[in-house]
Amino acid sequence: MTTRPAEHRPVRPDADGHFGPYGGRYVPETLMEPLREIEAAWADARADGAFEEEFRRLLREYVGRPTPLGFAARLSERLGCRVLLKREDLCHTGAHKINNALGQGLLVRRMGKRRVVAETGAGQHGVATATVCALLGLECVVYMGTEDMARQAPNVTRMRLLGAEVRGVDSGQRTLKDAINEAMRDWVTNVRTTHYLLGSVLGAHPYPAMVRDFQSVIGTEAREQVMQREGRLPDVLVACVGGGSNAIGLFHAFLPDTGVRMVGVEAGGRSPRPGDHAARFLAPRSGTDGERPAAAGAEISGAGIGVLQGTRTYLLQDAAGNVLPTHSISAGLDYPAVGPEHALLHDEGRVEYTSATDEEALAAFHLLGETEGILPALESAHAVAWLAREAPSLAGRLVLVNLSGRGDKDLAVVEREP
Ligand SMILES: Cc1ncc(COP(=O)(O)O)c(C=O)c1O
Repeated sequence: MTTRPAEHRPVRPDADGHFGPYGGRYVPETLMEPLREIEAAWADARADGAFEEEFRRLLREYVGRPTPLGFAARLSERLGCRVLLKREDLCHTGAHKINNALGQGLLVRRMGKRRVVAETGAGQHGVATATVCALLGLECVVYMGTEDMARQAPNVTRMRLLGAEVRGVDSGQRTLKDAINEAMRDWVTNVRTTHYLLGSVLGAHPYPAMVRDFQSVIGTEAREQVMQREGRLPDVLVACVGGGSNAIGLFHAFLPDTGVRMVGVEAGGRSPRPGDHAARFLAPRSGTDGERPAAAGAEISGAGIGVLQGTRTYLLQDAAGNVLPTHSISAGLDYPAVGPEHALLHDEGRVEYTSATDEEALAAFHLLGETEGILPALESAHAVAWLAREAPSLAGRLVLVNLSGRGDKDLAVVEREP
């Protein structure tokens, strides 16, 4: 049996960065040229075998790829299905974020820039960016909401030890969205010397496609590994969805495999009430977002769809179009918008999006620790939580879970919970 994906992989996005009605480039005029410059540099790099070779070499020698695909025997026994774990938690720096940070870091060097700004929520993208900047000799400034600095303190220390300047952001909810605003402000001001190293499949074109391409190594490896191990494709793939980079990184190589079910798990937070969660796809279906009768709104008025930070996508907003506050126990899922490619995959029905609550994620954190000796990041625990909840309907199935990161950064949060 071949391990190569089928030939009909959809080519996305279009030349203007649209994934169907989503994506695009909604930015001030001053950023149009820098974005075109990144797009051109990225196209040029892709066509250059030497760039690809250097990227692959560093993924292997520095990041530690390929990451293992391991059979979770005791968890499988407990849940009654066969669980494979893709171990992105074993990447250098402890999460998948380094794949993209490394790719963009090499691009920055190629573009001849010396300074990098980044945003971070859970701190994993900030740590990955600080790491790559140290490796490549680039100046690094990371913006982080002060709420996130408090809950992910170990990562703040790590970034500083790696030589990055961490700038706390005190505006708004003091989380990821506010950090992105500040990083963009810095970028606009210093655009001639500075690259914005965005950490997920968000923002204006070409970021959603470029970040996806750097992360697609996850699924390319996983597909080969599962074929080698099992001689067949998995029945189900599951990954957590913040902006959506680890999920699309896993899903992408499997998109043409129509027999493979794919599930993205968002942050269900404390409750489905507005402000209590970050489940962007929950809103139009459930009628819990804002005041409107959302089931009709989604169809008729485009409720739940808007523009945030450069891209058009599903967005948590009230009836007047104001962005709603969000909540999640995991800083990395605590964001009101989702990557535009996920928006299209949702509408097409190719990927199912659902959510897990804070409580379910915490229970899954303990479950994985106690059955497999692995403490996952609270973000990744959302994927495990879905599996634990849905296990009765998955009896005997082969399920591949993307373990996007490790839980060291979350120990204080977990310890505080009952
Ligand atoms: C370990 C981990 N997993 C998942 C995420 C969510 O991001 P994305 O949806 O882009 O993978 C984060 C974000 O910080 C993270 O640190």
